Amino acid sequence: MLAFVSLVAGLLLSADPLDSLPPGTSVLTERPLESMRASVQESFGTIERHNVDDGPDQEVIRADVVKRPQKPYDVQIRFPTDRTVAKGEVLLVRFSARAVARSPETDEAVLTVVFEQAGPPHRKSLSRTLEIPKDWQRFDLPFRADETLEIGRAQLGFQLGYDPQTIEIGGIQLLSFGPEMDLASLPTTRSTYEGQSPDAAWRAAAAQRIEEHRKGDLIVTVLDPSGSPVPGAQVEINMLRHAFAWGSAVTAELLTADTDDARKYRETVAKLFNRVVFENDLKWPNWERTEQRQTLMDATVWLEDAGIEIRGHCLVWPSWRYLPKEVASLADNPAALRERVNGHVTEEASALRGRLAEWDVINEPYTNHDLMDVLGNEAMVEWFRLARQADPEVRLFINDYGILSARGRDAAHQDHYERTIRFLLEQQAPLEGIGLQSHFGDDLTPPPRLVQVLDRFAQFGLPLLITEHDINIADEALQAEYTRDFLTAVFSHPAVAGVLTWGFWEGRHWRPQGAYFRRDWSVRPAGQVWLDLVHDQWWTRDSGATDASGQRKIRGFLGRYEVTATAEGRSVRDTVTITREGSRLTLTLAEPSR
Ligand code: XIL
Repeated sequence: MLAFVSLVAGLLLSADPLDSLPPGTSVLTERPLESMRASVQESFGTIERHNVDDGPDQEVIRADVVKRPQKPYDVQIRFPTDRTVAKGEVLLVRFSARAVARSPETDEAVLTVVFEQAGPPHRKSLSRTLEIPKDWQRFDLPFRADETLEIGRAQLGFQLGYDPQTIEIGGIQLLSFGPEMDLASLPTTRSTYEGQSPDAAWRAAAAQRIEEHRKGDLIVTVLDPSGSPVPGAQVEINMLRHAFAWGSAVTAELLTADTDDARKYRETVAKLFNRVVFENDLKWPNWERTEQRQTLMDATVWLEDAGIEIRGHCLVWPSWRYLPKEVASLADNPAALRERVNGHVTEEASALRGRLAEWDVINEPYTNHDLMDVLGNEAMVEWFRLARQADPEVRLFINDYGILSARGRDAAHQDHYERTIRFLLEQQAPLEGIGLQSHFGDDLTPPPRLVQVLDRFAQFGLPLLITEHDINIADEALQAEYTRDFLTAVFSHPAVAGVLTWGFWEGRHWRPQGAYFRRDWSVRPAGQVWLDLVHDQWWTRDSGATDASGQRKIRGFLGRYEVTATAEGRSVRDTVTITREGSRLTLTLAEPSR
C-alpha cells in the first residue's frame, strides 16, 4: 500500500514535464552561494543571504533595492563558472524567485539573468529580463553558448538594479547538456507582458481610438452626363496607399543589385512599405565613401519611381566612434571641429535636398554626446538650423532609443530625451518630429505603458515616429503576439505618424532573428502579423450600389483610394484621398457613345 502511494505520488510529481530534466552536468561550484559575488553600492540597497522556510532552498539570496541606479548591473550577483563552457554547448539556467516587495510606483518587480563573459565587453549568450511574481516561481532558461570560455572566464549574473524592490532568489542551477541536446526539448519559461491576454482592457480603447483617429468618411456621388444623381450605380472603392507611414530600413545595395535575392527584396519593399530609411548608407562615414554614391542615387531613383518616401538617417551621431575617424583628431580644436561638423551637415543635406521626406539631424544624444561635450549643447541647435537652410522642405527629427523599449521604464533616458527636446524647442531649433527607435529584447513593454509614454512625448505637439522597430527574441509566437500588440498600440495613438521596422529580411538584418522574412524568404509569424494588419485589417475595400440620392458613403482608413463607378455599361474612375475631416468625390458618367 505504501509502495503504491509513493508510486502514485511519484507519477504525480513527474507529471509536471518541467520537473524531469535529462541528466546534465553542473557548470557552477557545488554550493553556488559560497562562490557568489555580490556588488551593490550602499546607496542603492543591499544583497544578503537569508533563511526562509517555504523557498526552494533553506538559504536564499535577498536583494533589497532602495534606489534605482543608472544600470541594472549596478545591483548584481554573479556566479563564476567552475568548468570550461564550449561553444555550441546547450545550457539551462534554473532558479526560483519571488518578489517580497514590488516598486510602489510601477507595481513591478524585475530582474535580468545573463550568461556572459566575466570581464569586458561582457558578451552574452543569454540575457532575459523577467517579471518576478509575489509567490515563488521557478524559471527555466535554456540557451546555447556562443563561444568557448575557460573556467572562471564566464559567469551567471542576476541584475537587479531596477525601481525599488525586494526580490529573493534560490535554487540556482546552471546545467550543461552538451552540444547534441535539442534546445527545444528543454523546459522554457516564456516571457510575458501585462496586457497580453485577449480580453485585456487596453484593446477596446485602442480599437476605438483607431476608429476615431485613423479613419475618415468618404461620400462618392455618381452623376449622369446631365448632372442628375444615378441611384443603383455600382461603386468599387479600393485603397491604394496608407496615409500613415509603414516602413522599413533598407540598403541601397539590395535596392539596386541584380540577384534573385535583390529582386525579391525590391518586390517585398514595393509591396509592404510606403516609406523607407537607409540603414547605413547615409551615415556620415558611409556618405564620405563617395564611390558608393552612384548606388545610393540609383536606389533613391528606384524608390521615387515606386512612390516610396525616404527618411534620412542620420546627419550627426555625435560619438567619435560613429564619426569619420579623423574627426576625433579635432577634439582639442573646438573651432575646427565645429566647422568640420557644420560643413558636413550643410554638404550632405544640400546634396540630398528635395529627395528626402525626413532627416534625423541628431541620433541618440543620451549615450552619444562627444560632440556636445566639446562644442556645447548649442551646437545641436546649429545643426538643425543648417539642415533647414540646406533643405527647406525636409522634416527635421531627433531620434533616440530606450524610450518605448525596456518595459518603458528607463526613466533616466526618457527624462534626458524630454529635456533635450524642450531645450531645442526653447532655442527655436526647427525640430519637427520625434523619433522613437523601439528596439526590443524580451523586456517587452506592456501596451498600456506604451500609450503612457507616447502621451508624454506627444505633449510637444510634434509628430512621433517609430523609427527602428524590431523584436530580437527566439520565441516566434511571442514575437508575433507582441508585434500585433505593439503595432496596435502605436497605430491607435493620435500623435504617431508611422512605424518603420529596422530591416525585414534575415539575409540583411542587424538582429537576424528579428526579421519578418527568413533567409529563404518564408514569412515568420511576426511578418504575417504586419501583412494581416497593415494590408488587410487596416486596409479598406468596399463595393456596392449608390443609394436613392446617387451616393455611396463609407468610412475608410486614411489614405489614397481609387474609385470606380459603373452604370448602364459605362464606367468612370478617379482617385481621392480620405482625410480625417472627411472627403467627397463626384464621378460623372460619360455620354453613351453612339
Ligand atoms: C545599426 C545598423 O543596423 C548596423 O548595420 C550597423 O552596423 C550599426 O548601426 N540605432 C541606430 C541605428 O540609430 O543607426 C543602428 O543601426 C541601430 C541602433
